[in-house]
Amino acid sequence: MSGDTGTLMKNLLITGGCGFIGTNFIRYLLSPGESGDKPAFTGRIVNVDKLTYAGNPDNLSDIEARHPDRYRFVHADICDVSALEKAFDDFAIDAVCHFAAESHVDRSIVAPDAFVQTNLLGTFNLLELARKYQKRIKWFHHISTDEVFGSLGEQGFFTETTPYDPSSPYSASKAGSDHLVRAYRRTYDLPMTLSNCSNNYGPYQFPEKLIPLMILNALSGEPLPVYGDGKNVRDWLYVEDHCRAIWRIMTAGKFGETYNVGGRCEMQNIDVVEKMCDILERRVPDKKIGSRRKLISFVKDRPGHDRRYAIDCTKIERELNWRPQESFDTGLEKTIDWYLRNSDWVKRVQSGQYRQWMAQQYGER
Ligand code: NAD
Ligand code: TYD
Repeated sequence: MSGDTGTLMKNLLITGGCGFIGTNFIRYLLSPGESGDKPAFTGRIVNVDKLTYAGNPDNLSDIEARHPDRYRFVHADICDVSALEKAFDDFAIDAVCHFAAESHVDRSIVAPDAFVQTNLLGTFNLLELARKYQKRIKWFHHISTDEVFGSLGEQGFFTETTPYDPSSPYSASKAGSDHLVRAYRRTYDLPMTLSNCSNNYGPYQFPEKLIPLMILNALSGEPLPVYGDGKNVRDWLYVEDHCRAIWRIMTAGKFGETYNVGGRCEMQNIDVVEKMCDILERRVPDKKIGSRRKLISFVKDRPGHDRRYAIDCTKIERELNWRPQESFDTGLEKTIDWYLRNSDWVKRVQSGQYRQWMAQQYGER
């Protein structure tokens, strides 16, 4: 299989398409004008999403209206085997790109059960169906994270051969799902690829993750809670660059291979937050709020907080000719722009199930 597989996939099942990266990926495939790229995909997308607090079907309502023949939404849980099987049957699914997951480390620390259910058992269900429909499945791509590798010290990078050493229930459940995917490749010879990506940021990210949380708190003059000493390092990647990488893998990658995807953009958390404060200061000065940097508040550290993540993405660069196109400066400006222009989206996601869940776990904040 090579370059033209994108046009061979007729009915691509995307799981978790109403979340942050899934939404951006679907928009990338069906609305290429937005990105300037023209991915060669002419088939239909079937988006299976449970719509947890993190899933928002509005993200794709314009896509649904513009592409009634090429985009279908199925409201289903990947832990529900019969609903999944029905989707495979009804839509003659011949390719899978699996994003659906419980994705937030802090939530996994207070309530790990859903992580094991969705990330492990949900992935297992998809693999079993891929096995059942093996004759027609052309591609199964599994999206994973660099967090499966655990923490780096001050030196070194994660490569595709770094041993797994997850620290949180989230990363452990993703590690387990990665092992299942590799085992299904080796045992059943399914057409699979896997990618482990660093921290993404960009439009449609739920404001529980560092960057959107900080942008929205800073805009409304609320404290900016930085965990520990703020010197933990993450390797940031603009979400559209991740989408390009996934599509490169699904059209030019080799079955059975894993690709690390990263931004070559290591930053300490405190530097990310200060940069964001300075941009907001310039773009939306607010006399009542005053200096955004003064909102920074160092709070108790996250238990098991990995110190440093950094990806060596030489393999995908060399073998698939992928490179991130966005720098952190341009990506952060675009992201802030998006959150400034989409205050209705923010209000909607902040008023939904997530708020109720947070209130149950932590009391009203
Ligand atoms: P997200 O939390 O924004 O979205 C997850 C989506 O999955 C939501 O739409 C949710 O409704 C859906 N979902 C959750 N449980 C489900 C279930 N049981 N059945 C069906 N749908 C379900 O997550 P994201 O940030 O878009 O991450 C997507 C994938 O990328 C995940 O697998 C994550 O591990 C991986 N990843 C994320 C990052 C990152 O920085 N966000 C980095 C590397 C890898
Ligand atoms: P996060 O966005 O939760 O991603 P991950 O834990 O998957 O890397 O967090 C990114 C970094 O920011 C991580 O080191 C934890 C830190 N962080 C804070 O300091 N304060 C916050 O409020 C949050 C959500 C994260």
